[in-house]
Amino acid sequence: MTLIDGKATAATIKAEIKEEVERIVAAGGKRPHLAAILVGHDGGSETYVNNKVRACEECGFRSTLLRFEDDLSEEALLDEVAKLNANADIDGFIVQLPLPRHIDEQKVIEAIDYRKDVDGFHPINVGRMAIGLPAFISATPKGILELLRRYGVETSGKKCVILGRSNIVGKPMSQLMMQKGVDATVTVCHSRSKTLKDECRAADIIIAAIGQPAFVTADMVKPGAVIIDVGTTRVKDDTRARGWRLQGDVDFQAVALIASQITPVPGGVGPMTICMLMQNTLAAARHEYYD
Ligand code: GUN
Repeated sequence: MTLIDGKATAATIKAEIKEEVERIVAAGGKRPHLAAILVGHDGGSETYVNNKVRACEECGFRSTLLRFEDDLSEEALLDEVAKLNANADIDGFIVQLPLPRHIDEQKVIEAIDYRKDVDGFHPINVGRMAIGLPAFISATPKGILELLRRYGVETSGKKCVILGRSNIVGKPMSQLMMQKGVDATVTVCHSRSKTLKDECRAADIIIAAIGQPAFVTADMVKPGAVIIDVGTTRVKDDTRARGWRLQGDVDFQAVALIASQITPVPGGVGPMTICMLMQNTLAAARHEYYD
C-alpha cells in the first residue's frame, strides 16, 4: 500500500509557487495578493482561513483578512465584495463559507467578479470548467486531480465512484474525472443512492466526500483500489489534549490493508486544497484565464 502524502506534495508545490513569485517580483512584476472575508466565529472556518493566510506567507503572496461579526447584513457584505472587485491591488479573493443563515450564499458568490473568483464557485467558472475551457477550478477537486497525477494513478478507462454531490467537491470532481485526458468512467452516489455499496465494490478509484465519519468500510472496497478521502469531521477523542480528532469518510485502518493507494486524514486532501487556492491566486495575478 502506498500512502498518498498530500502534506509533502503541497509543500513541494508551495515551494514551486514561491520560486515563481520571486522570479516575477525580481522581473519588476506584482506580488500576488489574496484577500479573504470571514464572517462570524465558526471554529472550522477560523482554522481554514488562518491556514490560508499562512500559506500565502509560505508562497510569498500578500494577504488581507477582512473579519466581520455574524450580525453583518447581507447588504454590507455585498458592499465589501464590490470594494474588493474594484480594488486593482487585490488579484483574487474568497468569502469563507458557510455564511450566517440570514445571508444568501449564492447571491454573494454571484456578486464576486469571476476574474477574481479564486475559489471557482461563480457560475461562469463552474460552467467554463464543465465544458473544458480555462477557468478557476474549485480547490479540493483540483487538488485531488493533482495528487492522482503526481502519484501516477491510472485514470483512463477506470471506474471512479464519487460519494457526495456537493457544488464544492462532488459535482466538479465528477466533471473533472470524465474530462478528456483524465478519461475515467464516473458514477456519482449520494444519500439517496440505492446501489452505493455495490458501486463502491466495483470501483477502481473511490473519492469519498459525504461528511460521514468512517463511512467507507473494508467490505465496500475492491482489493487494489485507490482511495481518496475528503472527509474532515471533528469526532470526540479523549486521548487528545483538545478532546477531538479529525476523522475522514473512510475507515482508514481497515481500508489501508486492501487499497493500493490511500490518502490519510489529516495530511491527505486538506493540505492540497489550500495549495490549489494558492495556484489559483497565482493564475489570477498573471491573468492566465481572463484579461
Ligand atoms: N468552506 C469550506 N470549503 C471552502 C472553500 O473551499 N472555500 C470557501 N470560501 N469556503 C469553504
